[in-house]
Amino acid sequence: MQTGLIKVCLLLFFLISHVTAIQWLAIGKIRMTWKKKSQCAHIRRENILQGNQERLCRRNLEMMPYVASAARAAIKTCQETFANRRWNCSSIAFVPTLTYDLTSGSREQSFVFALTSAAVGHTIARACSAGSLLSCGCGRVSREAPNGDFKWGGCADNLRYGLKFARSFCDKPWRQKKLLQATEGIMNRHNNKVGRRVIRISVITQCKCHGVSGSCNIKTCWKALPKLLEVSDFLKRKYYIATEVDSQWRGKRLKLIPANSQMGIYGKDDLIFVTKSPDYCLPNPKVGSLGTRGRFCNSSSTETDGCDSMCCGRGFNSETIEKSERCHCKYNWCCYVTCRTCKYLIQQQRCH
Ligand SMILES: *[C@@H]1O[C@H](CO)[C@@H](O)[C@H](O)[C@H]1NC(C)=O
Ligand SMILES: *[C@@H]1O[C@H](CO)[C@@H](O)[C@H](O)[C@H]1NC(C)=O
Repeated sequence: MQTGLIKVCLLLFFLISHVTAIQWLAIGKIRMTWKKKSQCAHIRRENILQGNQERLCRRNLEMMPYVASAARAAIKTCQETFANRRWNCSSIAFVPTLTYDLTSGSREQSFVFALTSAAVGHTIARACSAGSLLSCGCGRVSREAPNGDFKWGGCADNLRYGLKFARSFCDKPWRQKKLLQATEGIMNRHNNKVGRRVIRISVITQCKCHGVSGSCNIKTCWKALPKLLEVSDFLKRKYYIATEVDSQWRGKRLKLIPANSQMGIYGKDDLIFVTKSPDYCLPNPKVGSLGTRGRFCNSSSTETDGCDSMCCGRGFNSETIEKSERCHCKYNWCCYVTCRTCKYLIQQQRCH
């Protein structure tokens, strides 16, 4: 019992003092051409790469520009996905500085980890099929029997390669020995994996027709990935139903089990979190909340972007804004377009 307690204390101390999370996202902010392996050591010293990520970087220098673009895509996509909610993923753009909402083991953190891991898999899988990388090419031809009148062909997104890289790169910091048995490590690895599973099940079949003048006599199809935003929307649904978990020692292993025993066990496809989130209404750095003062809201919506919900009952301002737009465009022979400028008024609401 006592050794258990000591273990827990050591772990807690470790969590508070050492654990860092998705600093690698800051790679997306660095402007550099990846030419030398020493660049990997350099960003490791700035704590942007963690654990073994430096070695991966050295070995896969040609992938780093794609890791950078995956980071940018993840940041942008997270913000688009949550634009209409109080927590709008703006804190992700502060990397390598991380606020408490992304380090406390919150529901929001679970989403962000899943999305970033998915983004790496997505970007690399597409870079392979686009022929941008030396180390990989088209994905394997599907082994499913063609369902319809077509042949497998073309160049499939290389999911297998993309996901393998995403797994090693994103999970690396959490595979250090000391983290294998830590709540945060277990949670983050699980959520990363959910992101990659979602990528795997969201592949779509894309086709191209060949044949005389637009007829579709011959059709070839391949497996491709949907837009990252679609993957992100799917993950958002998992965010709503994420499972709260607690850690418990079972013998020598730390397990995460649902906090509410009536919840049953969570599945491989469920996001998990360990810390309840604040309502994000008021600014409070201690809980990672920026507050919603000044946010735009929609007074006629009853959804999360409605002013009642967004402003947490504090009320809002209405402003009338003049907008201008190009209109009445005419095509002139040959070859330019002339337009007029139209002005119109719109109503905008902002939270108090
Ligand atoms: C997101 O929320 C923060 C804090 O409420 C706010 O400062 C920021 O402008 C918001 N971003 C967008 C794009 O609405
Ligand atoms: C505000 O919400 C209403 C109702 O959901 C919707 O029809 C309208 O398009 C929204 N307006 C804006 C500017 O998003």
